[in-house]
Amino acid sequence: MNNSDRGSFSGKIAIVLATAGSAVGLGNVWRFPYMAGENGGATFIVIYFVCILLLGIPGMLSEFIVGRHGGSNAARSYDKMSKGGLWRLVGYLGILTSLIILGFYAVVAGWCLQYLFASIAGQLNGDAAYVKDYFATFSSDALRPVLWGVAFVVITHLVVVRGVRSGIERASKLLMPILLILLIVIVIASCMLPGAMEGVWFLLKPDFSKVTGRVMLDALGQAFFSLSLGTACLCTYASYYAKETNLLYAAGQIALLDTLIAILAGLMIFPAAASVGVNPDSGPSLIFITLPSVFQQAFAAMPLVGYVVGVMFYALLVFAALTSTISMHEIGTAFFTEELHLPRRRSAWVITIAASLICIFCSLSVGACDIQVMGMALLDFCDQLTANFMLPLGGMLTCLFVGWFVPKALVKDEFTNQGTLNHRFFELYLFAVRFVCPVCIVMIFLHQLGVI
Ligand code: PHE
Repeated sequence: MNNSDRGSFSGKIAIVLATAGSAVGLGNVWRFPYMAGENGGATFIVIYFVCILLLGIPGMLSEFIVGRHGGSNAARSYDKMSKGGLWRLVGYLGILTSLIILGFYAVVAGWCLQYLFASIAGQLNGDAAYVKDYFATFSSDALRPVLWGVAFVVITHLVVVRGVRSGIERASKLLMPILLILLIVIVIASCMLPGAMEGVWFLLKPDFSKVTGRVMLDALGQAFFSLSLGTACLCTYASYYAKETNLLYAAGQIALLDTLIAILAGLMIFPAAASVGVNPDSGPSLIFITLPSVFQQAFAAMPLVGYVVGVMFYALLVFAALTSTISMHEIGTAFFTEELHLPRRRSAWVITIAASLICIFCSLSVGACDIQVMGMALLDFCDQLTANFMLPLGGMLTCLFVGWFVPKALVKDEFTNQGTLNHRFFELYLFAVRFVCPVCIVMIFLHQLGVI
């Protein structure tokens, strides 16, 4: 298949929106707030910023460089750059990682979809005990959460089969601006509540006595997860970039947007929670158990506003999740289309079926069946395995690859678009991928294993 058949993004805005669409997702609105809540708020956020700056941006750039140079699916792009070496395996690792993420992510996205309908139908009205019970009943049902999760994978499928421009690009251009507007409206409503400032302080006042190896690993995993880094996703999207795209700018803009949205998500959730005295550390169920009643209590004097904010919130989650699942799906779809020469539609089905199977087991593991791996429900295990191990590993290998194995001139050519762009930051970038990223990631791994 030649390059013009593969499709490409139409321009700069499409590139940033589609890639930001992948990055911005449940990672920002669901995972970031509960991770920050569990790990001491501002302390976690400071470490998270450091990870984004020192490891995230250079890592993103490296994936962009491999992907745009290769102009094909992740495995072949690594192959092309390494001239047939074992580095292809990094591409495979990314494809596998994104498939696992798609499987468990769809479970949570399915919950969001169910909650969107429930909030429209007014079924989430009731006191805190009622909402808690609602979640427990729904999530332990053998069928409903499974169906919603699989439905989410199928919706993703329907976008992906339409191709790069009329599927991925169109969805991102439509959904990303809506998402941003919804988010800002809810942040304003949440911060205006009585007692909201305490929640804002929780996000702003670091307490460095809370820094532990676990907090560092969680912040690292969260940074990679949130940027979609280490899954070959950025590499696959970059294969649809134009030769003129300034990769450094793109990486900077996307990282900034992604971080901004995570912070806005925090500013949406913590002030509302503080206003009604809900603890921010209630874990993954934060947005499903605490938030519905938070919105109701917080807007008790204005029930209609409470209703609208609730519906908007779950619509926002669904949109954010969809632009991300599209990207996870695309990685595998591009791979099967190009490597097995299957029509796009068929390779998309391969991914849809595989992801649906993972989704079914993950969903059952936190509901009707007790499916455990290493003492954790399968869903939590998949989350931990990918975010805290596979993503940092994939990101680190990519940095090592670009930093040490690809000829410097080739990397520089991609970085500067064949010498047409400023190369002021090139040496800094090279230093980061050669030393800073690998050393930091290895140290955090070793620390976690108790070796240092
Ligand atoms: N970055 C996405 C989010 O924050 C999740 C994701 C991970 C997407 C890996 C693609 C690949 O929700």
